[in-house]
Amino acid sequence: MNGWNSGYVTDVPYTAGWYSQQSPVMMALACQLCGVAVPFPRDADPVHLLELGCGQGYGALVQAASNPGWRVTAIDFNPTHIAAARAWAVEAGLTNICFIEADLATFAEDPVGRDIPEADFVTMHGVWSWVPDSVQSGIVRLLRQKLRAGGVLHLSYNGLPAWGPVLGMQRLLREAGRRLAWRSDHQAEEGMAVVKALLAAEARHLDRAPMVKALLARLEDVPRGYLAHEYMNEFWRPCFLADVAAALSGAKLEWIGSSQLIENFPALTMTDAQRAIANRFEDPLMREMVKDLCVERSLRHDLFVRGARRVGNATRDEMLMDVVIGMGVHPDELPAEVEVPTGQARFNAAFYGPVVEAASRQASRVGDLLRLAEVEGNRDNPAELLGMLVGANLAYPVLRPDADPDPGAMHFNRIAARRLARSESLNRVVGLASHRLGAGAHGSLLDLLVLDRLDAGDAVVPDLLRLIAPPSNAVSALRQAIEHSLHRRMPILRAAGVY
Ligand SMILES: C[S@@+](CC[C@H](N)C(=O)[O-])C[C@H]1O[C@@H](n2cnc3c(N)ncnc32)[C@H](O)[C@@H]1O
Repeated sequence: MNGWNSGYVTDVPYTAGWYSQQSPVMMALACQLCGVAVPFPRDADPVHLLELGCGQGYGALVQAASNPGWRVTAIDFNPTHIAAARAWAVEAGLTNICFIEADLATFAEDPVGRDIPEADFVTMHGVWSWVPDSVQSGIVRLLRQKLRAGGVLHLSYNGLPAWGPVLGMQRLLREAGRRLAWRSDHQAEEGMAVVKALLAAEARHLDRAPMVKALLARLEDVPRGYLAHEYMNEFWRPCFLADVAAALSGAKLEWIGSSQLIENFPALTMTDAQRAIANRFEDPLMREMVKDLCVERSLRHDLFVRGARRVGNATRDEMLMDVVIGMGVHPDELPAEVEVPTGQARFNAAFYGPVVEAASRQASRVGDLLRLAEVEGNRDNPAELLGMLVGANLAYPVLRPDADPDPGAMHFNRIAARRLARSESLNRVVGLASHRLGAGAHGSLLDLLVLDRLDAGDAVVPDLLRLIAPPSNAVSALRQAIEHSLHRRMPILRAAGVY
């Protein structure tokens, strides 16, 4: 500890990250799917989005750039993060976002904290299960004061029991790393080397944890800053949902469901026998605990509402019929099936074929897609259509279908391309600001770079090959990836209003 960091890593910055679950549009959609009335923001609504523990602020910046009429406040106690985020906001000319350097342990009592307005949406990614009790209770006090009645909280954290078999690995990694190196990213690296060696020596509690092996298998691709922030914190404590929900009830928050849409479908997450056991309980938290014992879910993305307005199935379906969606993949690239916790869920071509064709031509209301003459199958289940297409990142909700590409959002994307190109890998998932979506559009860093060079016309491919300068044995694969981005991804991003 250095006196102000409460045992949290502050000597190396966290990587710039974007997660679709943090967008208010996705939060509202997931709440509606779970039968809670959270309307999509309308243009005249003075929406306030608050992000707690914003890191370098990329997610908050995408939200601000996509929604110039909203106000975004983002808080982090690491001055390096706040300085980087503010510099980015200035370069992008964003005036609707404010980055505050503050400790969440005490922000609720801070005069600056008292002055910020109530928030409609709060998001906190990667903070809760990495900080001590004093910070968690400060967060609860802040939420009690600042999340308005009816407002939504998105909270992601390391969940139990999925992390259970990995507790020993994290402790070993942290303790060994601290004894072998000084800076926390070097500590993580040294600690990992010890874990790897002990696994090779058939240590029982590493050998029988598939998550340990999966982590080691992709270690080369994991940024060192990420490793430090994931494993080197003093208060690394994966949590059960039941305990998180009990803590948040102090802010009158009620658990609603997951912002990973597919996780809200018992039939896609549990077998019949598992569901029968879950259904013995009326308490939704108990049903979720049964589910947690059945699925491999290490990072939970939970939604809580302060004053949930629950609606019946008929009203829920009416809300979902009005959701407008556009396709996030080319129709030829729609997979035959998607992986879900219970196995593979197939896309029935007679049903999804016409839906996908129509949504690719033009963003459309779910109700209109389900009424298409060519559709064969159940036309009364908007939740399933949204769960399968949006939940698998194949389609996205469109907040403002008639909006033109916004010059401010386009400028932000250009700045993002240049900033991220310096440090990130080309297949890194990024959000591209879109006023039409009211959120980031799903893409890769390569898409962002191609977008940035579209003006170069025929020269895009040679330009990018020159800029990226891959080793000679990787030129052909990179050329193909650029061509794919140019001809398949760009039309999708254009339809999403990114440019
Ligand atoms: C894993 S990072 C996640 C950053 C960001 N949400 C993202 O997903 O990119 C956790 C962040 O919480 C911040 N943090 C940790 N403890 C904090 C505290 N007591 N007060 C404010 N911020 C804190 C860290 O500085 C760090 O930026």
